[in-house]
This record gives sequence, C-alpha cells and structure tokens, in this order.
Amino acid sequence: MNLFEVVMAPIVLEDVTKVYPDGTTAVRNIDLTVRSGEFMVLVGPSGCGKSTLLRMIAGLEETTSGSIVIGDRDVTAAAPRDRDVAMVFQNYALYPHMSVRDNLGFSLKVSRTPKAELRKRVDDVAAMLGLTEYLERKPGQLSGGQRQRVAMGRAIVRQPTVYLMDEPLSNLDAKLRVSMRAELTNLHKRLGVTTVYVTHDQVEAMTLGQRVAVIEDGRVQQVAHPQELYRAPANVFVATFMGSPSMNVAQATVADGHLTFGQFTLPLSDAQQSAIAGRGTVVVGLRPEAFGTSGDGPTFVVDVAAVENLGTESHAFFGVDAPPLGLATHRVTDDAPSIVEQGSVFVARLQADDVVTSGQPLILTVDPQRMYLFDADTGIALLS
Ligand SMILES: Nc1ncnc2c1ncn2[C@@H]1O[C@H](COP(=O)(O)OP(=O)(O)OP(=O)(O)O)[C@@H](O)[C@H]1O
Ligand SMILES: [Mg+2]
Repeated sequence: MNLFEVVMAPIVLEDVTKVYPDGTTAVRNIDLTVRSGEFMVLVGPSGCGKSTLLRMIAGLEETTSGSIVIGDRDVTAAAPRDRDVAMVFQNYALYPHMSVRDNLGFSLKVSRTPKAELRKRVDDVAAMLGLTEYLERKPGQLSGGQRQRVAMGRAIVRQPTVYLMDEPLSNLDAKLRVSMRAELTNLHKRLGVTTVYVTHDQVEAMTLGQRVAVIEDGRVQQVAHPQELYRAPANVFVATFMGSPSMNVAQATVADGHLTFGQFTLPLSDAQQSAIAGRGTVVVGLRPEAFGTSGDGPTFVVDVAAVENLGTESHAFFGVDAPPLGLATHRVTDDAPSIVEQGSVFVARLQADDVVTSGQPLILTVDPQRMYLFDADTGIALLS
C-alpha cells in the first residue's frame, strides 16, 4: 500500500453521553459529525469534557449512552485496537532507550509488518516530518519540537483512518507551537486523514480548525468555521470565549430605538430593532475593536482605569456603569444555570500610538453596527 493512500471516513456521534462511575457527567447528549478528511477542533475551557469525548472516540472510555460510528462501522462497543484510530497525547511518552527509527517503527513491528515495508514506511514518514537526519538518535538527543514530530510520526506510520490529538502542542514553548501549527496544517493537507484535535486555546482552534466545535459543560455550543464563530457566535458563551481580548458584554435597556448601558446610548438600526422587538432588556456585546479614538460614530467619554501597551496595539480598560450579566445563562439548554462573571469592565483595542493615559478621561467612538445582541435570559444570539 502506498503511504499516502488514505481511507476516508467520517465520524458520527449521536446523542453521546458520558457519566463516570462517581456520578460526574462529563459529556451531555452530544451530536457531532466530523466529515471525511476534515480537521475538526474541539475547544472549550478546562473540564468541559474535551478529553473525555476524544477518549470515547478512541475507545479508551466506555460510552454511557449514544452511538459512535467511524466510516460505516458502529464502534460504540469496539475495543480501541479495532477502531483503526491513532491518538497523539500531550505527554508523548517516547521510548527513551530506542532510536527515533525504532520509536517510529514500533507499532509496525508489533503488528508484524514485513521488514522491507516497515523500513520504507519509517523512511517516508521521517522524510515527510524532516526527521531523516535524526533517525539514529535517541529521544533525549532531540529538541522538544523534534520529539513532538516523532510522536506525530508514530501515529502517521500506522496509516489509521482517524487521528485523535489531545493538546499535542501544549508542552512546547510559544514559538515552537506556532511553527508546529503550520506543520500540522501542511501535514493534514498532504495526508487528508480525518482528524479530531482537542485544545483549550482559542488561537490554536482558530488557526488549525477547518471547523471548530465549541464545548462547554459537556455540551456542544456551536460548530462552525472559525471565521463564522467569530463573526456570528450562537450565544454569549461562544462570543466571549472566541477572541482576545474577549468581547465586552453588559445588560442594556431598550427604549425609543436606542440601547442604553452605562454612559453609552447607541441608535439601533431597523434590523437590530426588529431582532429585539418586544424586549426591554438585552445583552449587548461589543468587541474591543468596535471602539476607536477617531472616525465616525457616536462619541463617549470614559475614564481609563488601566492601559496595556503591547507595542502593536494598546488596550484601554474602563468601567461601564451597567449591570453585569447576572442572569445570562449562556448555554444552549441548561439544567444548572451558571452566572457569567463579566463585571462591567470594558476593554477597547486602540492603535499603539493613540495617546491614552491611565486615570485620564478618553473620548471613544463606537460603531453601532458592530453591536452584538443576545437574549438577556438565555444568552442566545438575536442577530446573526
Ligand atoms: N475518571 C474520571 N472520573 C470522574 N470524573 C472524571 C474522570 N475524568 C474526568 N472527569 C471529569 O469529567 C469532566 C471532564 O473532564 P475532561 O478531562 O474531559 O475535561 P477537558 O475538557 O479535557 O479539560 P482540560 O482542558 O483541563 O484537559 C471534568 O469535570 C473532570 O473532572
Ligand atoms: Mg483534557
């Protein structure tokens, strides 16, 4: 078989739930389809159930209810070795006493692949990952990034139908992570194997995912292309999770075609008015870049509480005298409402050369067209 010959297989999760023996529900009724050949990222805060879901696809955790289909096979009850998946973990334990060549070839050796084929597959994978010159070294003689490539190589060499990756880059320093991200994207382009990639890092999700599933508290909040998540978040949770600094949110009151929160009163367009028709209160969202210090749009005076200058841009923090989202249960459905603790501190993203001083008043412009509007009770987006 040719190294680059790929079996294309979608993954279909239907109503998948995981309850651990101690009663913890980690995954709640998830429906999710990963298309054949797709690079799907699962992203969400710590403890939201990402690893549990991935381990269920791998067969390392039992599925409490629901079904998992890979390709045309229902694998819900299948053993891990019968699922034809390869998993790459954060802690890529390589065999320290074996050379890179033996580490890469280990699984093929175990499955009694003929020597000549084993050698060819290892050589091909090493060439693809830029590891050829390190094949005779031991893992201890490699850099972190090279070791991570060996861990990837071990998964690739098996030619599985599906790759499952759980935060594989989180042990690397920031610079290496960026270059490994680019390598992963290239690798996926060349191999085209269906991949599910778990991360809690929204930047990683945005840059790697063809589609991204945002998970919170065991539930999928939204599945979409990265730009779509950013442009049209389904609810307050997705809106504030994707993007850095986070979207500013506050409760706002509606009156006479205007929205008021703290010192801000912004006109509503016809489309905005009809989206929130009948509501006296909504949650308003403004990304930090919706503010400026020049240009059109209504202007407001704020008291700058703090400034962070990052060189390329600066972030000005200011208080807004509007109630925080005490009641916005931002989940799609909810049996245990949680409170979004976004005080009423807003942040504006400004040019690095804007003169902004902590403790001083600042005149800001706002583009009312860039307001996001959410239901005040459910947190669900009202305009998309
Ligand atoms: N073996 C277990 N027994 C009981 N509860 C568990 C077990 N493993 C995980 N959990 C719980 O299930 C929930 C989901 O855990 P999981 O490891 O899937 O989260 P995660 O999204 O991968 O988080 P992180 O980003 O921190 O890795 C958490 O509340 C966790 O405490
Ligand atoms: Mg995890």
